[in-house]
Amino acid sequence: MNNSATLNVTKAFVSGMCEEKDYDVEYINLSSLNIKPCIGCLSCWGRTEGECIIKDDDIPMMKQKILDADVFVASFPLFFFGMPGTAKVFMDRMLSMMKTYRGQKSPENGESFHGLRYEDPNKKFVIITSCAYTEFGPVYEPLIKQFDCICGKGKYTMLFSPQLKTLIDLNNEAKINRYLNKFKEAGKEFALNGKLSEETEAKLKQPPFSEGAYKVFLDGFWREEKEKGGK
Ligand SMILES: Cc1cc2nc3c(=O)[nH]c(=O)nc-3n(C[C@H](O)[C@H](O)[C@H](O)COP(=O)(O)O)c2cc1C
Repeated sequence: MNNSATLNVTKAFVSGMCEEKDYDVEYINLSSLNIKPCIGCLSCWGRTEGECIIKDDDIPMMKQKILDADVFVASFPLFFFGMPGTAKVFMDRMLSMMKTYRGQKSPENGESFHGLRYEDPNKKFVIITSCAYTEFGPVYEPLIKQFDCICGKGKYTMLFSPQLKTLIDLNNEAKINRYLNKFKEAGKEFALNGKLSEETEAKLKQPPFSEGAYKVFLDGFWREEKEKGGK
């Protein structure tokens, strides 16, 4: 919800975008929505093609917002090398946004496996995600693979923010502001170019702490947590 560390970098990125272009921004918290899990009936690929039969929750509203949006930004922490359960439940309900699977082989050229039902080259999809590990590469491999299969390689922009929660928890305002400013600048670049340079992506991936300092912080954090006991 609003305590999400990831939301800090997302807000910084979006504020940068808004400095360059007059975006009409809406933040929607998935946890506050009524989202029923997919029941696996596949009606959205057959009987009611393109339409989910569950209509009494917030998914129809969200689908319309995604279709109307110029930029859709998904913000979430890494949970167990993937997206958190709430986001996965939401994602499953997006099956109606994908083309019906008709037995084709998996693509070898990095394209979306099913293909997007409403392909729009002007619509941008950004994923902003934070994690605890310093080396984001190995921990994000499964999630990157998943989004490559869903959207197609290069069809989305993913920003990583390693060690983020510790940076926010330590509450060093100057350091936090310097860090968030990188995301704000990236937001400006994205608004202007519709993508980020490799240099900017590399800059954002830089962890805020050295390996040694981070270990000391985490050891201290867990020691304090243990001392608090079940309180
Ligand atoms: C259930 C759970 C699973 C997590 N799994 C991972 C993980 O696989 N790899 C990792 O680096 N961090 C993992 N983390 C740490 C969070 O991704 C990280 O602290 C993140 O910055 C928290 O962001 P938030 O405040 O927006 O939730 C996990 C945290 C939780 C609570």
